[in-house]
Amino acid sequence: MTALDDVAVNPVPSTRDVVYDVDDVTLRFGGVTSLNHVSLRMYRGEILAVIGPNGAGKTSLFNSLTGVYTPQEGRIDLAARVGDSPVSVLGEKTHVVNRLGVARTFQNIRLFPALTALENVKVGVETRQKAGPIAAMLGMPWQRREERESTERAYELLSFVGLTQRANDLAGSLAYGEQRRLEIARALGTNPGVILLDEPAAGTNPAEKRDLADLITRINREDNVSVLLIEHDMKLVMSIAHRLIVLNFGEKIAEGTPEEIQKDPVVIAAYLGTTDDAAQPEGER
Ligand SMILES: Nc1ncnc2c1ncn2[C@@H]1O[C@H](COP(=O)(O)OP(=O)(O)O)[C@@H](O)[C@H]1O
Ligand SMILES: [Mg+2]
Repeated sequence: MTALDDVAVNPVPSTRDVVYDVDDVTLRFGGVTSLNHVSLRMYRGEILAVIGPNGAGKTSLFNSLTGVYTPQEGRIDLAARVGDSPVSVLGEKTHVVNRLGVARTFQNIRLFPALTALENVKVGVETRQKAGPIAAMLGMPWQRREERESTERAYELLSFVGLTQRANDLAGSLAYGEQRRLEIARALGTNPGVILLDEPAAGTNPAEKRDLADLITRINREDNVSVLLIEHDMKLVMSIAHRLIVLNFGEKIAEGTPEEIQKDPVVIAAYLGTTDDAAQPEGER
């Protein structure tokens, strides 16, 4: 065996700069323990996937990382953008975590269906601008400049996700895969250092899945955004993730490269012990 045999298909980025440091986090809802003493580290520049059967705690983890939920125990530190010092996000509000450089999409698409695709992206861009509604009403000069800049940036992002032709169509009229990409464009509008994608390929067809895989890789490589990805489609996940974390019943049961995870007996057992569709081979769905 040569040294090259050890090189993974998706080499883990060499920088070991920690973006999210999650230490011993427990989250409970009444009698349900959604996250049970979960610890993990996300490194700058990586695509880190979170997999696990339905109800494993994946979305709960995302919600804990973004201020939607406050775990009862543990520590979550964040340094989203290059050069940031780590700060605790435990107990912080979602808009605070967003300002710190974290953007996300949701398992169930949350767009403004009666706004155009362009307007949806502008909502994202404008959350980090200074102009408020009063300035907008008074038409302050810098407000008009910001408006122009946000339109330009929104067009750039629509082009990046391949939706330029749809700019003036209502978000609600877009095809499902297009809505998924629009949500990503809106999230990128906040200029994040980290993006969390909760099942971005759910409900999309094979061609849309390939587009999404390509888009996620481009976000990671071209924009240098660290990506935390929840995805059930194993083919997609294994092809783009640098590392994976496996949750089962709220516990982290494995962590490693795609190669390590695919042959991990604990992971295989967790998937065989469920009726979740993720357990089935690609062709049978
Ligand atoms: N807001 C909530 N209230 C009560 N229980 C919740 C809440 N959010 C999540 N849970 C519970 O936490 C567990 C994990 O759910 P979730 O994080 O959505 O799993 P996954 O995303 O892996 O499918 C489930 O048992 C779910 O019912
Ligand atoms: Mg979920």
